[in-house]
Amino acid sequence: MTAVLKLNAEHPQPEAIDQAASIIRAGGLVAFPTETVYGLGADAMNESAIRRIFEAKGRPADNPLIVHVCDHAMLDLVATDVSAKAEALIAAFWPGPLTLVLNRRPAVARSVSAGLATVAVRMPGSQIALDLIRQAQTPIAAPSANLSGRPSPTTAAHVASDLEGRIEMILDGGATNIGIESTVLDTTSEPPVILRPGWVTREQLAEVIGRVELAATDEELKRSPGTRHRHYSPRANIVLVENYSSKSMEQLAESLLRNGPVGFIGHTRFAIDHPGFNAIVLNNSAEDYARFIYSAFRELDELGASIIIVEGISEAGEGVAVMDRLRRAASETRSQLVSRDLNG
Ligand code: TXA
Ligand code: MG
Repeated sequence: MTAVLKLNAEHPQPEAIDQAASIIRAGGLVAFPTETVYGLGADAMNESAIRRIFEAKGRPADNPLIVHVCDHAMLDLVATDVSAKAEALIAAFWPGPLTLVLNRRPAVARSVSAGLATVAVRMPGSQIALDLIRQAQTPIAAPSANLSGRPSPTTAAHVASDLEGRIEMILDGGATNIGIESTVLDTTSEPPVILRPGWVTREQLAEVIGRVELAATDEELKRSPGTRHRHYSPRANIVLVENYSSKSMEQLAESLLRNGPVGFIGHTRFAIDHPGFNAIVLNNSAEDYARFIYSAFRELDELGASIIIVEGISEAGEGVAVMDRLRRAASETRSQLVSRDLNG
């Protein structure tokens, strides 16, 4: 049985935080909202508790977790050799959606880092998360609170639909603000490298510490094992289209409808009168796409879509992180689909 406690996101009820913190201290699992997505938390210093996270999610053991801290003293329990650049980023962006890869202290449970010498750490920007960590008096390791391979959860209902019965408690603080996961920056290399783009952009990082690179090579991506795995995906296949007219998206949808129900997520409105067609229209902004993309994936899955057409947005600023998630979720791009059709 999974207990679900509804909390006030700005002023979390202390009794509820107390209950959740006791579960963490006893080695149990609690899902909680951060400003990005819901996390599935356990005591980062307790190896058997961490193993339960991997079991509950069905997560591959080679994909390390992010440790969440509530202050600098707690950061010092899990990481060492924090560089001057890392300190400057902490001062500028914490609490907030920036995860720093740092040298790991041995007291951190081994499975958290999946065998790496480093540990990923962030201070989340939600009051519920901060109160929970402070009350538990221990750093909390938390991956996104979805079954491995499913879209990250942005509501408590998403968490329940994936993890009900597998975890002790869900703290329900309403829908998360940002909607996509934090930026992951490796600060153990020089210059630092973005391993996963997120809401804190490369430009914002560069303003504080100068040159920052974007992981591009396979060698670099090996440092963020999670990027190897299929991620952020609904059950339906995704076709990503960029710079399409409403007419050509309509034609694409009509041709795909011959093979089964079709979903559409995008910012362009077009009408198709077919019972198998469902559209979710968003504002043409990185903010709205980030906030609603994962719930849109889940909603269209529930409506039985076998394929979802997703209209891309401009790959600038925060749009870089949104397009990163869309490309990872996409099983095919429009051009792959066309060449598959042409080749039978
Ligand atoms: O916004 C977020 O980051 C959310 C909330 C809950 O904090 N968490 C999240 O966790 O997205 P998860 O497990 O879904 O993604 C963690 C990412 C993975 O891509 C993983 O490979 C990378 O962080 N990571 C963790 N530890 C690492 C390390 N030591 N070195 C490199 N990459 C690491
Ligand atoms: Mg995840």
